[in-house]
Amino acid sequence: MNRKNHWENIYTEKSPLKVSWYQKEPLLSLELISNSKLDKNAAIIDVGGGTSSLVGLMLDEGYSNITVLDMSSTALGIAKHRLGERSNLVKWIEVDITEFNPLHKYDLWHDRAVFHFLTDVQDQNKYIDVLKKTLKTRGYVIIASFAVDGPKKCSGLDIVQYDSKKISDKLGLRFRLLENRPELHITPFNIEQKFCYFRFVKI
Ligand SMILES: C[S@@+](CC[C@H](N)C(=O)[O-])C[C@H]1O[C@@H](n2cnc3c(N)ncnc32)[C@H](O)[C@@H]1O
Repeated sequence: MNRKNHWENIYTEKSPLKVSWYQKEPLLSLELISNSKLDKNAAIIDVGGGTSSLVGLMLDEGYSNITVLDMSSTALGIAKHRLGERSNLVKWIEVDITEFNPLHKYDLWHDRAVFHFLTDVQDQNKYIDVLKKTLKTRGYVIIASFAVDGPKKCSGLDIVQYDSKKISDKLGLRFRLLENRPELHITPFNIEQKFCYFRFVKI
């Protein structure tokens, strides 16, 4: 099964409240975005945003230039439906991130549990090339992945675990690590999952 079909099936078959990565409030993401001290009209993209509540909470905080990208139209449909009329305040892009051709540049790129699914080096390099051309110089990137002592699979798929050295080596010299924060995520089934959040600035 290709990866788009995998994700469409997941969001068709499961409640968004019952997927292992579900968070009621993505507090660490919000904190790291806030630490980036951006203007409220800064261009922010949530890559692989899925059905996350992050976009709604960012709108609550006054951010006005938000894009949510995901390869699953089902996930984007659920996220839009949840926001109701406020979904018109958000730009929605359905595409595989490795194939994304940005029309303009962003001040902040947020990715929770997306890059870690790219186990193939060619795909990882495509993602990093897209990141480089999408993010402004002095823009911020927040990537959250499973930690090196965390799970080895997510949603039935193999993932790559990262620590700060491994992710820094992967992203290369144009990205300077600013923060490295662990998170113990508790799934809806009460399973502990160790995540690590990395915030970089592009230099
Ligand atoms: C584990 S979920 C995380 C969702 C969201 N970031 C969150 O924290 O709730 C991974 C999401 O990334 C999307 N995704 C996976 N691979 C992708 C890719 N190559 N391009 C775009 N979206 C992708 C999936 O459809 C899914 O919504």
